[in-house]
Amino acid sequence: MKMKGRHIFLLIAMAGLLILFFGASINAQESKKAPDVMEMKNTAAFSAHKMGIVPFHHKKHTAAAPDGYGISCGECHHDKDGKPLALKEGDAVKGCMECHVKADKPKKTEGMSKEDWDAMQLEYYYGAIHANCIDCHKTGGKGPVKCAECHPKPEK
Ligand code: HEC
Ligand code: HEC
Ligand code: HEC
Ligand code: HEC
Repeated sequence: MKMKGRHIFLLIAMAGLLILFFGASINAQESKKAPDVMEMKNTAAFSAHKMGIVPFHHKKHTAAAPDGYGISCGECHHDKDGKPLALKEGDAVKGCMECHVKADKPKKTEGMSKEDWDAMQLEYYYGAIHANCIDCHKTGGKGPVKCAECHPKPEK
């Protein structure tokens, strides 16, 4: 009788460990999922934020209408050649700064051509993120284009 009880205990303990193990691996996969709302605060790009932190509604941008704006992943995520990526929920993505590597704000130099200036801006995280967000809002005629519409007033 005593032995049986110990066997059952062992079995339950092993089942528990198995559940923990699989639970953890499911969690590890889920953690690739983007948060519904992202606090855009890239400390590698900006040592200090002068503007209010932008709350970016990632999920709302991708969700189908009428809940969201139905934008496909590839409008924002692309590969090393700039070609749109076909992603699905759970796929890992690279941060923008892995390719748009420069920190802080770009500075236009005297007599720089528009082409050079546009190319230079894209080397910066600052330029890439603003171009991605604002260009679409502008061309689509929907979504904020003014600074204060994205950057809330910083808390005093
Ligand atoms: C469509 C939304 C949007 C608009 C409009 C916008 N920004 Fe931004 N801005 C962002 C995002 C997103 C970041 C990236 C923040 C991060 O990841 O740390 C950013 C970063 C910045 C930063 C660097 C971080 C900081 O706080 O110092 C500055 C400066 C900035 N924006 C200024 C401006 C100015 C000036 C305007 C208007 C001419 C503007 N932005 C318009 C979304 C926007
Ligand atoms: C409107 C633009 C936009 C769309 C559309 C979009 N994303 Fe993103 N996503 C972003 C930005 C910006 C980031 C932050 C990147 C960074 O931090 O450098 C991001 C981050 C992520 C991350 C990383 C989250 C983290 O916390 O590390 C994942 C995963 C992701 N996106 C998946 C997707 C998938 C899957 C889709 C399509 C269903 C999608 N995204 C559509 C803009 C977008
Ligand atoms: C794996 C590298 C890589 C990653 C990660 C990446 N980009 Fe890019 N991106 C590129 C390349 C390459 C181009 C093309 C550059 C060119 O045309 O000069 C590009 C172009 C762009 C452009 C210009 C598009 C156009 O049509 O003019 C914008 C805006 C942009 N990226 C924003 C982003 C944002 C925002 C993120 C993060 C969500 C991101 N990129 C992540 C490599 C990358
Ligand atoms: C491919 C197009 C596209 C891109 C790229 C895009 N947006 Fe938007 N955004 C929209 C549309 C469409 C709306 C909805 C506007 C409406 O219905 O009034 C919107 C609305 C918004 C709004 C206001 C409503 C809300 O959901 O909060 C904010 C803030 C915003 N976008 C921030 C961003 C930021 C930050 C980025 C870049 C990281 C970004 N957007 C990239 C299309 C885009």
